Amino acid sequence: MAAEPLFADTAQGVAKSTVPAGTITARQAGDRRPAFLDTLWRGAPEAPRVATLPRFAASASDDVETEDEDSEMSRRKLALRDALGASQPVIGRENFAGRHDALSQLITAIEQQRVHVVIYGERGIGKTSLAHVFSETAREARYLVLYGSCGTEARFDAMFRAFAAKIPRLYHKSVLPNSPEAERGDHFDVMLEEHFGPRELAELFADVTGTRVIIVLDEYDRVIDPSFRRDVAELIKNLSDRAARVQLVLTGVAQNLDELIGYAPSIRRNIVGLPMRPLTAAEVRDVLAIGEVASDIHYSDESVNMINTMAGGSPYLVRLLGHRAGMAALDQRRSVVDDSHGRAAVERVLTDWNASLPRRVQASLSRDEARAQWPLLIAAARAGSSADGYFGIDDVFTEMGGSVPHSVIERDLRQFAGSHDLLEMSANPGEPLFRFRYPGVSALLLMSAAMAKLTT
Ligand SMILES: Nc1ncnc2c1ncn2[C@@H]1O[C@H](COP(=O)(O)OP(=O)(O)OP(=O)(O)O)[C@@H](O)[C@H]1O
Ligand SMILES: [Mg+2]
Repeated sequence: MAAEPLFADTAQGVAKSTVPAGTITARQAGDRRPAFLDTLWRGAPEAPRVATLPRFAASASDDVETEDEDSEMSRRKLALRDALGASQPVIGRENFAGRHDALSQLITAIEQQRVHVVIYGERGIGKTSLAHVFSETAREARYLVLYGSCGTEARFDAMFRAFAAKIPRLYHKSVLPNSPEAERGDHFDVMLEEHFGPRELAELFADVTGTRVIIVLDEYDRVIDPSFRRDVAELIKNLSDRAARVQLVLTGVAQNLDELIGYAPSIRRNIVGLPMRPLTAAEVRDVLAIGEVASDIHYSDESVNMINTMAGGSPYLVRLLGHRAGMAALDQRRSVVDDSHGRAAVERVLTDWNASLPRRVQASLSRDEARAQWPLLIAAARAGSSADGYFGIDDVFTEMGGSVPHSVIERDLRQFAGSHDLLEMSANPGEPLFRFRYPGVSALLLMSAAMAKLTT
């Protein structure tokens, strides 16, 4: 792997164009179906009765006594899980693949442009992982990096008091190194009034000296309270006006900057937006290479291509499928992951997703009308890939290649918009807007469409 960008590295990454999963027509998708759909439409098979109860794969004890083949296999499986498990963000550089351009843009924005940064993109695209690896890199350059994850209930003063409590008072310009304040080990929070707003905070932060502070506010999209966002915008403005040595990095699920920070012209020139794009094919390889090194397996070119297509550039899906495919190979005591393992992984993920949907939704998906309208539903899923998930009839018309009249599409969509059905309809004056009631359904439809295309 090439060296990661570091601070003081002036080379600016060039954003590559995005390469989403292959586009297919709804007709193609409906014609050929992955095995998962047969199971869905036939009903799940009865699980065969197994004679022995399941056991743990490996001993939890650290000392491995017998290095036999079984324990070696178990070790490789656990190593693969640690390297490619998809439930956690990456927190260190070892497991972070690609994204050199995003990391160097972020560093340049912080170090040279001295602006605040908003990282945005779809769910699971790698925002938190990038923020963590960036933080590690910034700490090496002696920045004081503070990380906080926003919850729905986030309150401005509570959150920023906690940040202030992590900045040693030694870094306040009024405090001399050997003074009692410095010796006491106080932090900036003691200099805040009980109630404070963005102005008072910016005034205090403007007195930071001897270091630079980066505050990462992760999951900014989750905050509900509009006054929190207003206060953060005000803080950014005040920090910028005072050229304070404190910079903010916000991350959140959004399709564009406005969606995340609202319409705030006063801070536009103090902010750089960093959109996270889907992984390129080379980056997908890099992610899988981390699993290869950890568990001593090899992903064949066919399996890499399949995972790349199915994942549509989502690092989350690359890891999920890469992990499952690798496990399928190791289960067969093979060291090469081929396309049959890739296919097994996709089937398994689709089946798991389906099983995790509420019973009612599963039933809606497997009924005859849904089956007959599979191409329409897939076109709808594709049309609904915007952040809020809403799509109109014309969007579906386009996705279906312009072959089905608007009136037919509207009639058919309405058929799925009953009170407990797959779609919900918004009371939009004029053209009706639809979206999937459960976001998991559209992910399932999209992947099964991609799979259907692949099994032709
Ligand atoms: N550069 C990367 N290399 C390897 N794995 C990655 C990379 N970026 C993200 N991942 C993996 O993808 C998954 C999603 O990443 P992450 O949690 O960072 O995304 P996110 O955009 O913050 O998601 P959310 O929108 O849910 O907050 C995680 O399993 C993470 O380990
Ligand atoms: Mg995240």
